Amino acid sequence: MDTLIFEKVDVYISNMFAPDDATLAATLRSLRAEGLPQHSVSANQGKFLQLMAILCNAKKILELGTLGGYSTIWLARALPADGKLISVEINNHYAEVAQRNINDAGLSGKVEIRVGDALEILPKMIHDKEGPFDLVFVDADKPPYAEYFSFALSLARPGTLLVFDNVIREGKILDPATTDEKVKGVQRFNKILSDNPHVTSTILPIVGIKEYDGMALAIVKGNIIA
Ligand SMILES: C[S@@+](CC[C@H](N)C(=O)[O-])C[C@H]1O[C@@H](n2cnc3c(N)ncnc32)[C@H](O)[C@@H]1O
Repeated sequence: MDTLIFEKVDVYISNMFAPDDATLAATLRSLRAEGLPQHSVSANQGKFLQLMAILCNAKKILELGTLGGYSTIWLARALPADGKLISVEINNHYAEVAQRNINDAGLSGKVEIRVGDALEILPKMIHDKEGPFDLVFVDADKPPYAEYFSFALSLARPGTLLVFDNVIREGKILDPATTDEKVKGVQRFNKILSDNPHVTSTILPIVGIKEYDGMALAIVKGNIIA
């Protein structure tokens, strides 16, 4: 696949619609300086997430997978003054870097990072009735995406927007015999999502400066019986 044209178009769009400001540029630099993986969403995807948050008038956002806080900053900037974003991150060091970036972005009053395994934190949030969230962005480990979907539904209300990143994986989801646990995880999730009668959903394929991938989008339709 000739990916050069996709990269050029992504840069073209990002330069116009999602130019890096000093805070976002410093956030990306901090990932490199602190040895974090370069797995942040692209600038254009960050802008897309921000647009989604504005579109659904989000006041409460849940994010799984903080890394250095890059997507967190894009999303939190869409929140009103009394808005709140909870971001869950399993890695202590990543969470520390993200916290610094969020402080530098002036968003510490709106963003709370919870350090731990989302598979343990989410059931506790459900138990503590911390929902409903207006938007849930899932960008953590891929094998339990189906479980994250189930938890997200329990933390949602009718109209909540669910966004799951990296669900196409360069088209590897087309291979039913794959042994890749990440691919298997999103295959299982994609099937469960498409079969679920409580959401209206689809997958948006994405090409750009990152690999060929896609984001699943789902709107919760009615009351969920957990
Ligand atoms: C793709 S990165 C997130 C990128 C970030 N959303 C961004 O665009 O700036 C995935 C993150 O999920 C975290 N993660 C992996 N498994 C997790 C789990 N079980 N619970 C919480 N976080 C997890 C990883 O440590 C990593 O920081």
